Amino acid sequence: MISLSIIQTDRSKELQMATDPKQRSVWLEIFKDEISIGVFQLQEITKITFNIHIHIFEEYQKKGFAFKCLDPLLTRLKHLKIKKLMCTVSKNNRVMRRVLSRTPFKLCGSIKDGIIWNDELTDLLIFELNIGN
Ligand SMILES: CC(C)(COP(=O)(O)OP(=O)(O)OC[C@H]1O[C@@H](n2cnc3c(N)ncnc32)[C@H](O)[C@@H]1OP(=O)(O)O)[C@@H](O)C(=O)NCCC(=O)NCCS
Repeated sequence: MISLSIIQTDRSKELQMATDPKQRSVWLEIFKDEISIGVFQLQEITKITFNIHIHIFEEYQKKGFAFKCLDPLLTRLKHLKIKKLMCTVSKNNRVMRRVLSRTPFKLCGSIKDGIIWNDELTDLLIFELNIGN
């Protein structure tokens, strides 16, 4: 029987050939007029599909900005040639789920007990959005 062990390494450069060194992570800052009100983090899953995370800074929350960001975001993503988005959210994140329910994002799966959110083990919901061309 073969015994395998997996060990964390700092030889990332040498071993990079096993991963995709060109994998992108994109940050988009959200401005209202000239004021920075939040940020999108986009992590490359594949060349055309990115995982998106939104953070509206606390003083600008509850003003409807997350929802209003969607149109300008989609325009920006088309320029970046991103075709599909994935958004993962704790089942208990009611605010984000409310935002998503007003958008064309669709629930496409979940991971049982997939996230610790507000110190609580909860299911991780996975939403998808097809951006098109
Ligand atoms: C989730 C988040 C992006 C929502 O942004 P937002 O601009 O504040 O959202 P909106 O103002 O559009 O609010 C959406 C709905 O939730 C309600 N809401 C917003 N913040 C709330 C809060 N703290 N508590 C209760 N309800 C809240 C709003 O009243 C609104 O509902 P309504 O239109 O029926 O009144 C923002 O709260 C945030 O950045 N949170 C921290 C990071 C995070 O959780 N990101 C999501 C994971 S991807």
